[in-house]
Amino acid sequence: MKSRGKKLYEGKAKTLYEGPDPDTLVVHFKDDATAYNAEKHAIIEGKGVLNNRISELIFTRLGEIGIPTHFIKRLNMREQLVNKVEIIPLEVIVRNVAAGGICKLLGLTEGEALPRTIIEYCYKDDKLGDPLISDEHILAFGWANPQELDDIVSMTMRINDFLTGLFAGIGIRLIDFKIEYGRQYDGDMVRVVLADEISPDSCRLWDVETNRKLDKDNFRRDLGDLVDAYSEVAKRLGILHGKNEIPKRSKPVLVKSD
Ligand code: CDP
Repeated sequence: MKSRGKKLYEGKAKTLYEGPDPDTLVVHFKDDATAYNAEKHAIIEGKGVLNNRISELIFTRLGEIGIPTHFIKRLNMREQLVNKVEIIPLEVIVRNVAAGGICKLLGLTEGEALPRTIIEYCYKDDKLGDPLISDEHILAFGWANPQELDDIVSMTMRINDFLTGLFAGIGIRLIDFKIEYGRQYDGDMVRVVLADEISPDSCRLWDVETNRKLDKDNFRRDLGDLVDAYSEVAKRLGILHGKNEIPKRSKPVLVKSD
């Protein structure tokens, strides 16, 4: 059975196709890596396979603890079948330790402990550079209603608690991460579900012992081999340890850097 239909949308790291029925989509994980709103772009062989597998494992585990997600099943090395959702145009960022944007914004030092976990929202709009917004903006502009925002906050805190423990168990500190939610329609019913992906592209993950970065900062800041880092995360999660499963690769090919 052919599960993949017409191409619907091509994003920076993933392509969406029609699924086998009208309520589903096929997500294809590409090898493209982008940073700084796609100003830096390279093809890194193997990244798509790793993110597909890591995201599958995380979404499956979150489903098992009762977090509703769009994930249905993995189809092959690069593709997964998901429920079609209407994406809520927010990037929900969870920060446990200072890094990235918050250091610049507030003059904090990378690695500094935060007084408590902080949830931030950015409005998803590449042209505007995904600006940081508050819940007032979300409600005033109707990007989510108050009930949806409550659901988002409570699910996000549970996801953070679960993932912090999952990664701590394999010697990794979950510094921060970004998630997205969507509305899943089922007849007259609509509910908010976790969508998109959770992978080293969207998390900061540091080795507990050495502080080695096991995430996309390797690409953003040219710190080291991205596929080696993502493979280490996959290996510790107990997936993709067969030598033949991680594709052999050539050096990253820079597509654009200005
Ligand atoms: O890393 P950067 O300074 O661009 O943004 P950040 O706000 O510090 O990112 C916080 C977390 O969200 C990091 O783990 C990023 O990898 C992730 N993020 C993402 O996946 N996609 C974005 N568009 C922005 C952030």
